[in-house]
Amino acid sequence: MINAHRTHKWATAAAIAMLMGGWGTQAWAQADEARAKKIAGGSCFLCHGSKGESTSEIFPRLAGQNAEYIAKQLDAFKSGARKSTAMSDMASKLTPDEMLALGHYYQKMELPREEPKEPQLAGMGHYIFHNGNKFSGVPACVACHGQNAEGAANLPRLGRQFASYLEHQLKMFNKRDRTNDNAVMHVVAEKMTELEMHAVAEYLSGK
Ligand code: HEC
Ligand code: HEC
Repeated sequence: MINAHRTHKWATAAAIAMLMGGWGTQAWAQADEARAKKIAGGSCFLCHGSKGESTSEIFPRLAGQNAEYIAKQLDAFKSGARKSTAMSDMASKLTPDEMLALGHYYQKMELPREEPKEPQLAGMGHYIFHNGNKFSGVPACVACHGQNAEGAANLPRLGRQFASYLEHQLKMFNKRDRTNDNAVMHVVAEKMTELEMHAVAEYLSGK
């Protein structure tokens, strides 16, 4: 009798603890989202747009970008590992928690699909993205960036990003002007011609 009573008490306590735990995480996620929204609405939107769509082609789109990748880049801007006059200031006051919260905030947003401006070049880009160039040793981008150019946690989404931004980053990797974590992409970009960079960027922007 006593034993049964005890078990019942324990079960109730465990249920309450679980409920509170669940509640805690949910409340925490909501607080994180609210914090991210406040930061984004306070400054980021000026360049990256209120829906992560960006106000101009000079600013990369953040909508649909992977949360961990965003947090990683913000940390690199803050430490100075990735150099950018605009972004070092923006990231300087962010905590690691805020960086990840901003990542999740933007990852949830979606971008509308736009037709590529130069369809013939996009066709060439499609080939390079999926097959690389075996004559010069350019690897297929799909191997790391995914079938739909959606990336993964630490791999950036490339699909629907501005062509001019993608092309600029490829050139920066080639010259090692993109100074954080450039080893892999330097090897890729150094084998690419300007035409290949332009073509693959054109294809990805209309993905
Ligand atoms: C004054 C304009 C400006 C503002 C405001 C701004 N950014 Fe940026 N952001 C840029 C530019 C320019 C780049 C591209 C830097 C480069 O070329 O390497 C960039 C790049 C980024 C990247 C890297 C994207 C990628 O694909 O690698 C992230 C992440 C980012 N910004 C997040 C933010 C967040 C979060 C805020 C607000 C706290 C913010 N930015 C505010 C201009 C801005
Ligand atoms: C072996 C894996 C691998 C392959 C293959 C690869 N990439 Fe990448 N790429 C990466 C990694 C990792 C990063 C992120 C580096 C960082 O964290 O700063 C990246 C970043 C990029 C970026 C920067 C995106 C942004 O938002 O700033 C571009 C553009 C890019 N890759 C294009 C390409 C293209 C085009 C190809 C094919 C020709 C390709 N990559 C092949 C691993 C790869």
